[in-house]
Amino acid sequence: MLSYRHGFHAGNHADVLKHATFVFVADYLQQKPSPLLFLDTHAGAGQYDLDAPEARKTGEFQQGISLIYGDRAEAPTLLRHFLGMVGDVNAGGPLDTYPGSPQLAARLRRQQDRVLLHELHSTDYGRLESLASAQEKVHAEKADGLQGLIARVPPPEKRGLILIDPSYEMKTDYAIVTAALARAWKKFPTGVYILWYPVIDRSRVHAMEVALRAARLRSVFRLELCMTGDTAERGMTGSGLFVVNPPYVLPDAAREGLPWLAARLGAEGPWTADWLIPE
Ligand SMILES: C[S@@+](CC[C@H](N)C(=O)[O-])C[C@H]1O[C@@H](n2cnc3c(N)ncnc32)[C@H](O)[C@@H]1O
Repeated sequence: MLSYRHGFHAGNHADVLKHATFVFVADYLQQKPSPLLFLDTHAGAGQYDLDAPEARKTGEFQQGISLIYGDRAEAPTLLRHFLGMVGDVNAGGPLDTYPGSPQLAARLRRQQDRVLLHELHSTDYGRLESLASAQEKVHAEKADGLQGLIARVPPPEKRGLILIDPSYEMKTDYAIVTAALARAWKKFPTGVYILWYPVIDRSRVHAMEVALRAARLRSVFRLELCMTGDTAERGMTGSGLFVVNPPYVLPDAAREGLPWLAARLGAEGPWTADWLIPE
């Protein structure tokens, strides 16, 4: 039984870090004209109304995208195009809509690219399906995203940007997603993978790092932004991304962009941009 709904969290600090990085990496991959597959294992509803009761209830976007939306003209490279895209879905006006990863991928898609989305929650799948069916070469499946990932790689395009963005509702999810990433990477070692993780209990992040090293993955860059230091209390204090096969421009962009983002969001915890596993 899935209870997580991304509408309560859309546009928060974790989304901003994840989506800015996703768009930055996609831009680099799209410098080549050859086709690219966007594969989203955990897609959510696709796009979010920030006036909806769930977004208003938590107000998380007010501590995330709201704090940087007005800065799109002077944002560092890591965030600039992403913020421009948020501006586009709001027609350049006040912020009332937030694009999830499916909407970003659909808008980034060129004619030669394909977008494949997985979502299990019935309500969010319905919304996702409406978004996908309105566009060419954007497909949504009501299916387990990790099984879908393993089944779909290597893709016929031979190039892929894969976002693995689970809700981590079960403690076992940390081990399951890292195992799935390792399995997918063995089948498709040249794919570019972005694996998102929450910082709730630091020992779980360490366990993921150990698992990725043990699986002998190569070229894994990590970006992390914490709003406070680690704590034993319940709740997410920060989030991070493991980027497998990152563009060579990502480390410098991350080291420029993360301090800017941390300052704008008023983050009191550390930020990190380093190689977990070198190239
Ligand atoms: C963090 S949200 C995704 C947000 C989205 N990637 C974005 O950035 O806009 C995680 C989603 O995964 C869905 N989900 C949970 N388990 C899943 C599974 N095994 N396969 C596919 N989707 C799943 C949840 O219903 C939830 O909508």
